[in-house]
Amino acid sequence: MVGATVDTGALKHNLQVVRRWAPRSRVMAVIKANAYGHGLVAVARALDSADAFAVARVDEGLILREAGINARTVLLEGVFDREQLEAAATAGFELVVHTAEQIQLLREAPQGAAFTIWLKLDTGMNRLGFKGAAFGAALDALNGLAAVRAPVNLFTHLASADAPDLPSTAEQLGLFAAATAGLPGERSIANSAAMLGFAEAQADWVRPGLLLYGASPFAGAIGADYGLRPAMTLHSHVIAVKHLEVGEHVGYGGAWLAERPTVLAVAAVGYGDGYPRSLASGSPVLVNGERVPLAGRVSMDMIGIDVSGMASPPQLGDPVILWGEGLPVEEIAVWADTIPYELLCGISQRVAVRLL
Ligand SMILES: Cc1ncc(COP(=O)(O)O)c(C=O)c1O
Repeated sequence: MVGATVDTGALKHNLQVVRRWAPRSRVMAVIKANAYGHGLVAVARALDSADAFAVARVDEGLILREAGINARTVLLEGVFDREQLEAAATAGFELVVHTAEQIQLLREAPQGAAFTIWLKLDTGMNRLGFKGAAFGAALDALNGLAAVRAPVNLFTHLASADAPDLPSTAEQLGLFAAATAGLPGERSIANSAAMLGFAEAQADWVRPGLLLYGASPFAGAIGADYGLRPAMTLHSHVIAVKHLEVGEHVGYGGAWLAERPTVLAVAAVGYGDGYPRSLASGSPVLVNGERVPLAGRVSMDMIGIDVSGMASPPQLGDPVILWGEGLPVEEIAVWADTIPYELLCGISQRVAVRLL
């Protein structure tokens, strides 16, 4: 019933748009978290012209290798024990290094192992990376190791690139430039928001995630504003149509009240599919391509939709779109008081994904 279509043509198109925005940079396509819910292997295949892939963890990278995808793959969190290091060596993964413990693991790497390293500078996000003098010390340590390919690449992440008016991004960029001045190695700084908002952040490699899936990282904008196409459409069907009298309530807690005679469509989708319960009555849904409002609380498997305003009421089996083609996920994210990332990543295993 509930399904997500993933438009591989849109993914490819979005990669071309990214390349136009950052013409001098190579693209590390961020496909962690099951490619933001779109399907790790399918997205990697669709984006096979990316210059590299980035995933968060070893296991995600290994899924690519098991599928026969041998492209350059960067582990954004690096490795955390010897077993992961050995798996990464065998798989040829590139490692972000952000702790002294990871350098120690590399010191004890099996003979013959050779890693491309992305040394992470913490420029103010205070999540991962070395700060201040520790960055230089980490670089010196890495440069002395047999398992590290020279030169070490240089990496940071921006905390607030989606808010270009804040001074913090310029500060972070300044810190990165100062700490890496004169060093060999390639540089990577920019996520989606940074590569759109700060041309100077594009550097040798950009790391877009959200843009590839066709969504905007900036509040108040949608992917189409940047020439992007939504890759995922979450859809279902009408499974019941009801006629309500004035004063009748809908759903759990009777949260929605019919203030006029109402035609209510029930669609088979709910928070068990990743359609968030935080969505309020009034949130838009497309029924037969027409925008109509959610009525009542989202249940685990169902929603109610007020279709009274439709010229012809829907029939059982008629298509319902929750987000995607014709209904931007960015808009639904606002209604759900979240960000498009969370909605896309959050579709559940019950949702059958079909490639277009
Ligand atoms: C280190 C790093 N780089 C790049 C990205 C991609 O971010 P976005 O999807 O905003 O482009 C992420 C995602 O969270 C990340 O953690």
